Amino acid sequence: MNAETIEAMSQLEMTADKFWNISRDTGNFINILLKMMNAKNVLELGTSNGYSALWMADALKETNGHLTTIEFWEKRQCIAREYFEKCGFSDIITCKIGSAYDVIKNEIKEKFDLVFIDANKQEYIKYFEVIDPLLKRGSVILADNITSHAAKVKPFVDTISKRDDYQVQILDLPDGLLVAYKK
Ligand SMILES: C[S@@+](CC[C@H](N)C(=O)[O-])C[C@H]1O[C@@H](n2cnc3c(N)ncnc32)[C@H](O)[C@@H]1O
Repeated sequence: MNAETIEAMSQLEMTADKFWNISRDTGNFINILLKMMNAKNVLELGTSNGYSALWMADALKETNGHLTTIEFWEKRQCIAREYFEKCGFSDIITCKIGSAYDVIKNEIKEKFDLVFIDANKQEYIKYFEVIDPLLKRGSVILADNITSHAAKVKPFVDTISKRDDYQVQILDLPDGLLVAYKK
C-alpha cells in the first residue's frame, strides 16, 4: 500500500461514523479476497467518501483490475474523487453518480468478478435483481450491514440463500458481511 493511501485511510477512519464507512477489518478482508481471486472488474454500490473503494483499488492496482463505483450523493463522491486522485487511483476507478439501481439497469452491461453492495439497505433485494445477470460462474457478491440492519436486508438474504446457484456465508465481521459465490 502506498504512503498516500495509508495516510488517506487514517484520515477517513476519523470520520467513519459520519460517512458510514465499512470497518478496517472488512476493508482488509475485501482487499485480500480481491487479490486471492485475481479480480479484474469490480462494481461497488455506495461510494460515500471512498474509504472502501481505496481498500479495493489498492488490491486492483496489483491485479491490473478496475473499479466502478456508484453514489447518488454528489458531494460525497466529490470527496472520494479527491482521495482517488491523491492516492494515484484515478486511472483505475470510474465514478458514477445516480441511483444505484437505475445506473446499473440503464448504463452497465459488462460482467463483474465481484460486486460490493453497500448502498440503501432496503434496496439490496432490488440491486440483486439487476446485478445477477452481470455475474458469471465464479463471481462473488459481498453485502455489508447484514447483521447491523438485519430487518432491512432480510428480503435479500432470504432470497439469495434459497438460490441453488449461489453458495452463501455471513461472516462475523463488524456489521456482518455476506459473501455469495455464484456456482
Ligand atoms: C454505507 S455508505 C457507503 C460506505 C462506503 N462503501 C465505504 O465503506 O466507504 C452508503 C452510501 O450509499 C449511498 N446511497 C444510498 N442509497 C443509494 C442509492 N439508491 N444509490 C446510490 N447510492 C446510494 C449513500 O449516500 C451513502 O453514501
